[in-house]
Amino acid sequence: NQDQLKQMVGEAARDEVLKLPAGQILGVGTGSTANCFIDALARHKDHFAGTVSSSNATTERLLKHGFKVLDPNDVQSLPAYVDGADEIDPKGNMIKGGGGALTREKIIASMAQQFICICDSSKQVPVLGNFALPVEIIPLAKGAVARELEKLGGKVSLRLAKATRADLNQTPSEPFVTDNGGWILDVAGLQIANPAQMEAQINQIAGVITVGVFAKEKASVLLVSNATGVSRITY
Ligand code: A5P
Repeated sequence: NQDQLKQMVGEAARDEVLKLPAGQILGVGTGSTANCFIDALARHKDHFAGTVSSSNATTERLLKHGFKVLDPNDVQSLPAYVDGADEIDPKGNMIKGGGGALTREKIIASMAQQFICICDSSKQVPVLGNFALPVEIIPLAKGAVARELEKLGGKVSLRLAKATRADLNQTPSEPFVTDNGGWILDVAGLQIANPAQMEAQINQIAGVITVGVFAKEKASVLLVSNATGVSRITY
């Protein structure tokens, strides 16, 4: 099932990064698959001098396992960044941001020599866009950016916070707020045949912090699990 596939690929990524020379600093992603990787790597944490984290949630999980978590400003470069994806196309371009961590994920990915993507085969698509594209924005720019995104042919919705126990019987009306204080617009209905061009085009809209197209920071290696096991693809 889905959890076993995440477990398998998390363990495969552990084996992959243990091949790196000891004493390096590792970039760590966010999400349920990244969490499986963190848990699988925990007993080997001393192989690394430390980690750099892509979200508050990942930082918390790393610290709980006893990993050292470093300030990105104290790190020049990273040999590898390991993270999941919401979609990945045949060239290694990805849609990310389903978990709301796209900004820090892209920053840490940009510092790494290689991006090792880990996912189950349900994330592999011929063309990006079936998964609604996350765009992190400065809250006051919501209207302006939404109008620009609709011009691209997208159907835009503001991501709302998960209902808390208190207001379970009401629909959540609070916007989801990212680790950086941003809001997220999810853009459905796009067919992203040219990810690099779409990334550049959305990046330049005033008010956009990060767009969840990872073309410039695309994957170098993909570890993908399905019922028969884990495959390793390089781009
Ligand atoms: C976090 O914002 C995302 O980029 C995640 O990496 C992506 O949503 C994959 O998450 P799962 O591994 O939980 O599917």
